[in-house]
Amino acid sequence: GSGYRTNLCGSITASALATTQEFTVTTVPTQPIEGQKTGTSGLRKKTKVFMGENYLANWIQALFNSLGDEVKGKTIGLGGDGRYFNKEAVQTILKIAAAAGVKKVFVGRDAIFATPAMSALIRRWSLYGALIMSASHNPGGPEEDWGIKFNYSSGEPAPERITDAIYGFTKDISELKFADLPATDLSQLGTHTYGDFQVEVIDPVQDYLALLKEVFDFDLLREFIRRPDFSVEFDAMHAVTGAYAGPILVDALGAPASSIRNGTPLEDFGGGHPDPNLTYAHDLVDLQWSDRAADLGAASDGDGDRNMILGKKFFITPSDSVAMIAANAQECIPYFKSGLKGVARSMPTSGATDRVAEQLGLKCFEVPTGWKFFGNLMDAGLCSICGEESFGTGADHIREKDGLWAVLAWMSILAYKNRDVPIGGEKVTVEDIAMEHWAKFGRNFFSRYDYEGVESDAANKMVEHLRDVMANSPPGTKLGDYEVQTANEFSYTDPVDGSVASKQGLRFVFTDGSRIIFRLSGTGSSGATVRLYIEQYSSDVSTHKMDAQEALGPIIKLALEVSQLTKFTGREKPTVIT
Ligand code: G6P
Ligand code: ZN
Repeated sequence: GSGYRTNLCGSITASALATTQEFTVTTVPTQPIEGQKTGTSGLRKKTKVFMGENYLANWIQALFNSLGDEVKGKTIGLGGDGRYFNKEAVQTILKIAAAAGVKKVFVGRDAIFATPAMSALIRRWSLYGALIMSASHNPGGPEEDWGIKFNYSSGEPAPERITDAIYGFTKDISELKFADLPATDLSQLGTHTYGDFQVEVIDPVQDYLALLKEVFDFDLLREFIRRPDFSVEFDAMHAVTGAYAGPILVDALGAPASSIRNGTPLEDFGGGHPDPNLTYAHDLVDLQWSDRAADLGAASDGDGDRNMILGKKFFITPSDSVAMIAANAQECIPYFKSGLKGVARSMPTSGATDRVAEQLGLKCFEVPTGWKFFGNLMDAGLCSICGEESFGTGADHIREKDGLWAVLAWMSILAYKNRDVPIGGEKVTVEDIAMEHWAKFGRNFFSRYDYEGVESDAANKMVEHLRDVMANSPPGTKLGDYEVQTANEFSYTDPVDGSVASKQGLRFVFTDGSRIIFRLSGTGSSGATVRLYIEQYSSDVSTHKMDAQEALGPIIKLALEVSQLTKFTGREKPTVIT
């Protein structure tokens, strides 16, 4: 018996497991540790670094220092992707949170909480914010990576003013304040009361599932998933969605348990690299290219915010996925039944979504890489669905990208399109949906080449060279067979708050709509990762079945010539192609 339940008035009640009198706070001297600069995806380092003396405590203390009085008396969430060191970290965080005056912390059972589920929790219970322990798709374990990020009150990744303030505090921190709490048992649901401070261990799935039920038609999905002629394979990659796939896909929707692969979250993700793409989700890819392929194959990453969608021998690029979901959302997903407020994509993401917006008469926004840019649009009611080429797709039900949401969105499209197809009849497949979409909107062929671990100096020199080329490429300039429409460095002015983000990628846009984009990754942990994004549009249906690498061959060649990438970086080939 868990003792955990939600009542209809909107308050959480649970059985009391432990009560202690007031706790005392101990002040411990500390010294600043270099390099605790937090990006929007939080702080990511080797696990061993985080396990070093006061490393985690310093950052957590700096976070609470930066939140100041605002966080006193408030409730926050805490959980993570199941990786090594999370459970230990929880105990340290609770002690510092209590000493900082936090009133209550909701912790996921076994320290589990997927990033999108945490965003949902914040919004559902009007939490002040939450801490998520994850290094996303980076491998986990004592020799691998650990990470932590803070999400704020509308469920969005912390804004820069907070991450900058945290960094500021890490640079002159001199003391840590710990409440002397006993270790909290994370394996059982219930509330622990320590004086004025409470810890409630909660089911990490319940609120997220409740939200998904508001978004999707679970009856339609259940009926569809139970069809004997339809199959789904979901690969949790031994990461956090393993804790969600069972309750959601199997218990709530009736999928056979065998349709979940690698469904147990493991501290080292089974030694894998939990990033759902054609390279790292190779088990699922092999299956989908075999004759045992499922009608819908899908995978999610370490913390559950990324996704990959596959049909039988068919890959839906993330750029197409967001466009295809947007095109079908109103018809197939109840949450969108009164239409979309607008759509958005990151700059390097292909313009497939723009084509949908144009035909449907929707506002369409192009933002820099980084999920945080979508949040403002959503808060202002300007955007319902958005996505990025980096395997992120989502909507305004939360303020993070959402892996399982994307899977249920695709399942909803399939279910709706097959609703009148008799069992055993000619099914509408993932591939059919893509081909129909391209016939209607045209196809934006897209590919990304990554050059990982390039020397920073070399990468910067190449960027300088590209700036020169752009300066000398006014509209009308011929580059190979392509005519330049604009060549510039992407800069974004947020339409809501007017803030400006500059130097967000170098782009060559040609008169036929093709694009070549260069960017340096903002998430790498060592050296530089050069990303080359290539896009070419075709409205000619006879080309739509072409392999993207083949269709893009000439423009990729041009991109390599223009940038002199090999000369600058010494790389003949990319490390990853998506
Ligand atoms: C994270 C962010 C995304 C971003 C991706 C790639 O997943 O949440 O918004 O698109 O990283 O970023 P990068 O700077 O490495 O290209
Ligand atoms: Zn992630």
